[in-house]
Amino acid sequence: MPLERTFVLLKPDAVARKLTGEILGRFERKGLKTIAMKLLKVTPELSKRHYAEHVSKSFYPMLEEFITSGPVIALVLEGPGAIGVVRTMLGPTNGRDAAPGTIRGDLGLSRQMNMVHGSDGPEAAAREIPIYFQPEEIVSHSASLDPWSYAGDEK
Ligand code: RTP
Ligand code: MG
Repeated sequence: MPLERTFVLLKPDAVARKLTGEILGRFERKGLKTIAMKLLKVTPELSKRHYAEHVSKSFYPMLEEFITSGPVIALVLEGPGAIGVVRTMLGPTNGRDAAPGTIRGDLGLSRQMNMVHGSDGPEAAAREIPIYFQPEEIVSHSASLDPWSYAGDEK
């Protein structure tokens, strides 16, 4: 499984409910590495770029209103298979369907206010990361715990 980078957005509900530490802590404990992070407010223009695949859908106006309603925390996480690992940790879109143990399953019961976005594949990650981060804002670094997190042939 190659070392991957995935784009993660802690949505306005996660910030408002003061769940960002809990959620980031889960990613950290899993062994994923934060290589970029910032707090920002998503503008309507940014929302339309990020959620381009949903702009024409009936729920998009509500999604834009929600995602622009308060600060968010944007992250790039790195690790072996990071894209799929994060999606598995999130659980299904609707918190009511998400199993206990997942972030959405443990912390929420909404379809819209589901706390976290994670890239749903390599193409999405490659498209989304540069929407939020300049190359110089991504800080690749090695940590002393890396050898305890995965073997050399797993990256
Ligand atoms: P995300 O993109 O935020 O990681 O979530 P996802 O892949 O699990 O879900 P997706 O289908 O991409 O939907 C994007 C976000 O739009 C809101 N949504 N509302 N009212 C509705 O029918 C509806 N469907 C989706 C959710 O906030 C979802 O996370
Ligand atoms: Mg999605």
